[in-house]
Amino acid sequence: MDLKYLNVRSEDGIAWVQFNRPEKLNALNPEVLRDLETVVARCEQDDDIRVVVLTGNEKAFVAGSDIGHMAKGDIKSAYGLTDLTMRAQERLADLPKPTIAAISGYALGGGCEIALCCDFRIAADNAVLGLPEITLGIIPGGGGTQRLPRLVNLAVAARMILLGESINSEEAHRSGLVDKVVPLDCLEEEVKELASKLIERPFLALRAAKTAMRKGMSTSLKEGLQIEQDLFCMLFGTADQKEGMAAFLEKRKPVFKGK
Ligand code: COA
Repeated sequence: MDLKYLNVRSEDGIAWVQFNRPEKLNALNPEVLRDLETVVARCEQDDDIRVVVLTGNEKAFVAGSDIGHMAKGDIKSAYGLTDLTMRAQERLADLPKPTIAAISGYALGGGCEIALCCDFRIAADNAVLGLPEITLGIIPGGGGTQRLPRLVNLAVAARMILLGESINSEEAHRSGLVDKVVPLDCLEEEVKELASKLIERPFLALRAAKTAMRKGMSTSLKEGLQIEQDLFCMLFGTADQKEGMAAFLEKRKPVFKGK
């Protein structure tokens, strides 16, 4: 893959996607966003990849959109940038495989928004999360005003969005923004453990569960229940449903084949 600002390695079913623009704390410019969209599309197509992990470096997951780039912008270019951002992020949020944000250091602005598109967020104890856009005279433009209030309580979201205040990993954990906080040097191990558990799950059921949750969040309860019912019934046509239930009845561990 010809990528300028992302390092990608694939290991034991896990794609480790690392933002790699350290001199700018991994700030997102159009090239990074295009790289991200490309990588997510490849992860979707590659059957050997079962879980996608997004990560940065010790100092920064991603410190936001590139302010140097945005400073020269006008209304038209802002639409261009947000179109690109939304496309990459929607693709990530809709990826039919589980995604984990492994957050160390700064996850600000677009970085926090990318983490919000993932299914799981594991933070190192040095993580700082925030949406400081208001302090720059703008508002979050990559889903922050929509996804954050759906995840944490409104008072925390208001503090982050209206005041632009950042929060540390402990507060992010208390407010439900991150699932778990671990010492920085345990982050990779912790994420690997979570990814391994996800890989053990039956692939098609996992995909259906994610689709039901994600689609259900943006529709009415009635429509969401219909999506759930259809996916539930569809799974009765899979070999893994037969295996899962037979294994329970035979008091043994299931061996799922992803079919
Ligand atoms: N856009 C562009 N460049 C950025 C950036 C961003 N969002 N965040 C950091 N950088 C650059 C800095 O300009 C600096 O580059 P330089 O060495 O060429 O001057 C480099 O990354 C290192 O950052 P620096 O500010 O020196 O590190 P720090 O440890 O003193 O501070 C932060 C870290 C994250 C507190 C600070 O960089 C910051 O506030 N960044 C902007 C965060 C933000 O507002 N994000 C939302 C944007 S919409």
